[in-house]
Amino acid sequence: TKQKLWGGRFTGKTDPLMHEFNQSLKYDQRMHDADIRGSIAYAKALQRSGILTEEEATKITTGLAQVGDEWKASSFQVQPDDEDIHTANERRLSELIGPLGGKLHTGRSRNDQVATDMRLWLLDQVDDIKESLRNLISVMVERADKEKEYLMPGYTHLQRAQPIRWSHLLLFHATSFKCDLERLEQLIPRISVLPLGSGALAGNPYGVDREFLAKELGFASIAENSMWGVADRDFIVEFLMWSTMSMGHISRMAEDFIVYSTAEFGFVTLSDAYSTGSSIMPQKKNPDSLELLRGKSGRVFGNMAGFVMSLKGLPSTYNKDLQEDKEPMFDAVDTVSACFKISEGVISTLNIHPNKMRAALTMDMLATDLADYLVRKGIPFRETHHISGRAVALAESRKVQIDELTAEDYKGLSDKFGDDVKGVFDFERSVENRDAIGGTSLKMVERQIQVLRQALGTS
Ligand code: ARG
Repeated sequence: TKQKLWGGRFTGKTDPLMHEFNQSLKYDQRMHDADIRGSIAYAKALQRSGILTEEEATKITTGLAQVGDEWKASSFQVQPDDEDIHTANERRLSELIGPLGGKLHTGRSRNDQVATDMRLWLLDQVDDIKESLRNLISVMVERADKEKEYLMPGYTHLQRAQPIRWSHLLLFHATSFKCDLERLEQLIPRISVLPLGSGALAGNPYGVDREFLAKELGFASIAENSMWGVADRDFIVEFLMWSTMSMGHISRMAEDFIVYSTAEFGFVTLSDAYSTGSSIMPQKKNPDSLELLRGKSGRVFGNMAGFVMSLKGLPSTYNKDLQEDKEPMFDAVDTVSACFKISEGVISTLNIHPNKMRAALTMDMLATDLADYLVRKGIPFRETHHISGRAVALAESRKVQIDELTAEDYKGLSDKFGDDVKGVFDFERSVENRDAIGGTSLKMVERQIQVLRQALGTS
């Protein structure tokens, strides 16, 4: 039987269950392209160091490209002894080009190799995720722009609070996503650090040109400490924390629309494309897409929490515990990517019911505006809040709305009330009064749209 890549000092066989336990190829084969790219760059660097002749380097890089093509064509034959993507690729390279393949690993360790692969792989994924996130924000902004005349209740504690524009709600969620986009961009410099050339832990003894490697592979900087280069997984922790926070935003948005899609609210209806029926109750249309968006936030948090625990208490440099970095990272990438795409689909196809939103506005939501009216007549707000509260109580005792109290009723509550108090009871006016930056007035909603478009680079 064939020897393991590291088999020289071993006489005993690996226990089959241990082999299975140790093997990461079943999931780390996703990084096949990053692994090949890293190896091609390394072969070139070895040639520059004089370890490989030009001819040898060419043979190796051509062989590596062929191995890469096999992965792409799904024709790569995994062997039972392949341990991970690194050993699998090297094994195949040597099959293709002979013993020369064994020169590739000179001065390199799987420790600097795997760290390099992870970073390269994640950088590619971050680009894709950024794109999905931008698409989601853009769909929300365009919707907000088209539907800005519709008013709805804004809630605190899920109790009707003050009238807002529907667009203001959309832009609230979009603003969180914009911050997520900024935060994701800020992670990139810390992912884009080259470990290759760190060796197993102490560095590379062949004077390999790491600036050349960084340039070849597109890294922004170089790990300045080789022990850190092989040990650092903070970039994964940060990505998982970022994912956790972004999923929190997705979950919060999903929850809003789940509530608003109930018959009790009836503000929105999910398109058929993003809902499912019940196997027993024919009338049901369930917001499964939104519920999964909400539920998957727990899964991503779990990836983050689990991996942070795996790191806790590790001694310095590489330990096999670090192999536990892959599944949480892959799963977070898959989950977050899917969630942004599904969110985009849900939002872009959502049917809204502006009449229902409007009908849910009640005059008591203008009690603050009533207090504001008196503020403008010179009464301190704390007092006006109290007077307005008495108006609400009076209306309640008469089983009417506050706009149904007479001007005389109001004058009885405060001599500052004039006949113009009736003007307060206008939802449109209430919304338009919120015209400081960030408010729900038309102008300020338009400003938000402008700001978000600028962030997306679409204006
Ligand atoms: N599959 C390993 C991992 O993912 C690669 C590094 C192995 N290094 C080692 N010293 N055994 O971490």
